[in-house]
Parts: sequence; C-alpha cells; structure tokens
Amino acid sequence: MTWRSLQGEVVGALRAAGVAEPEAEARRIVAEAAGCSPAELVLIGGDEPTTLPAAHVARMLERRCAGEPLQYVLGSWGFRSLDLFVDGRVLIPRPETEVVTERALTEVDRCAADGHRPIVVDLGTGSGAIGLSVAVERERSSVWLTDASADALAVARSNLVGIGRAATRVQIVEGDWFEALPAHLVGGIDVIVSNPPYVADGDPLPEDVQRWEPAGALFAGSEGLDDLRRIVAEAPSWLAERGALVVELDPRQAGAVAGLAVAAGFSEVEVGRDLTGRDRLVVARR
Ligand SMILES: C[S@@+](CC[C@H](N)C(=O)[O-])C[C@H]1O[C@@H](n2cnc3c(N)ncnc32)[C@H](O)[C@@H]1O
Repeated sequence: MTWRSLQGEVVGALRAAGVAEPEAEARRIVAEAAGCSPAELVLIGGDEPTTLPAAHVARMLERRCAGEPLQYVLGSWGFRSLDLFVDGRVLIPRPETEVVTERALTEVDRCAADGHRPIVVDLGTGSGAIGLSVAVERERSSVWLTDASADALAVARSNLVGIGRAATRVQIVEGDWFEALPAHLVGGIDVIVSNPPYVADGDPLPEDVQRWEPAGALFAGSEGLDDLRRIVAEAPSWLAERGALVVELDPRQAGAVAGLAVAAGFSEVEVGRDLTGRDRLVVARR
C-alpha cells in the first residue's frame, strides 16, 4: 500500500458515499494524515504510510462517509490568513464572512486614520474567525470576542493561542450580546462586527448544516431577525462618535436591516454584497 493507492481507495469510498468532490476531498484527508499540504502529496505518493497515519485516514473517511462536514473531519479550516481549529461546537467559517471581515477592516482603518488605536468587538465570535482576523491583520487594534456559548468560546480560545503575539490584544468574554461587555466600553467602541444567527426558524437548510452545525449559531426567530434587531438597536450606545456597525445577513434581510439601522439613528447606512453579488451585509455609521 502506498499513499497514492490509499488516496485512490479514499476517492472510491467518498464517491460511493455520494460526496460531490471526491478527488479534492480525498487529497485533503490524505494530506492531513500525512502531515503535508495537498500539493505535496505527489512527493510522497510512492511511499508506504505507517500504521498511525493510515488509521487516521480510516477514521476520517468513516466520519466523512457518515455525512459529517469535511471541515469538522479535518479539524481545521482556512479563513483569510488563519488556519482555524473547528469542530461541532462552532459554525464552519464561510467565504461570505471573509467579505464581512474585509468591510469591518475598512471601517477599522477609517477609525484609525489619525493614529487612534481602534477598539473592535466581534459579537458571536464562534471559532473567532472575524475577530482574530482583525487582530492579526490590524496590529494596532484591541479586539473583544464575545459569545453566549461557553463551548464556542473554548474553540475561540484554542484559536487565540494560534495567533501568536497578536493574542495579547484580544479579550474573550461570555454573555448574551452586549451584556458580555464591560461597562467601560459604552460609547468607546470603534467597530462592532457580527455574523449573528439569521436563519428563520423552519427555513430549509442543507441536510449537513442542519444535522452537524450548532442550532444556536443558525436560528433567530420566525423571520431570522431576532438577533439582528437587538444588535442594531443596542449598537449606537456602545459605539464611539465615528464608530460603525458591520453585520452579516441573509440577502432577503438587507432592506429590513438597513431600515432598522436608520430607525436606530445611524446616519449612514450601506448594503454590501458578497463574492457572488448577493446582498450580504449592512454597514451602519453613527
Ligand atoms: C452564525 S454564528 C457565527 C460564528 C462566527 N462569528 C463566524 O462568522 O463563523 C453565530 C454565533 O453567535 C453566537 N450566539 C448566538 N446567540 C447569541 C447571543 N444571544 N449572544 C452572543 N452570542 C450568541 C452563537 O453561539 C454563534 O457562535
């Protein structure tokens, strides 16, 4: 048995299980067990895997064939410049959230233009994807990560350890939206960014999302707006004078959330798109 023949077996098993991209996923699984990148597999293709990595492939394959998302099976997933640890306690970070993070960084830069050190809050941080990216990509920022789920924050803490020196500028706090934050931040936050739950209760979701991702990260009442409503209404009092709120949402919610932001007293409100051109975020400036 060589790594190449093992990879071929993995492709066959994934295809038989109905996985849509068996070749690509087999490369990821085998590379994870071999401790190399998928591109480096060609270099070891003729070598024989030892018992432990071969058993690791078998365990990952079994989980994937049972329907568990590839990201949880691998235990890590790329988000912007980060390789984040992920498991079933947190939402799998999505490409659209990378765009939301980019927009938050634009607001961070605007607030930091005069040499000010920006304070950024990532509400409902999950794996830490947004907030840890801000901390790593903007070295003058101070970042607060919050979540109501202690389980999610345990994952965020593991990822915090992985960002090196930037971790000294990050605080993690647990609680229900703004209740997690200390009172001294009232009126002092430059950018609040959030990808809250925004799926309407009962909306159909892909079977693997429904079965494997945490329900508390997904659903938000009959219109999916329960959490967005609270965040938009409470954000102005926490933001500094020139501060901004950046929230991710379902494309069908953009008009409603923009309206909520105007009603909350924000002076500039913009809808932004994701990489597929769909309305995906609202930026609201005080
Ligand atoms: C859609 S997930 C986003 C996770 C991560 N920010 C991302 O973009 O991948 C929403 C997150 O909000 C958290 N959450 C749900 N209700 C909350 C609440 N009332 N207060 C704070 N966080 C909450 C969930 O635990 C979950 O981690």
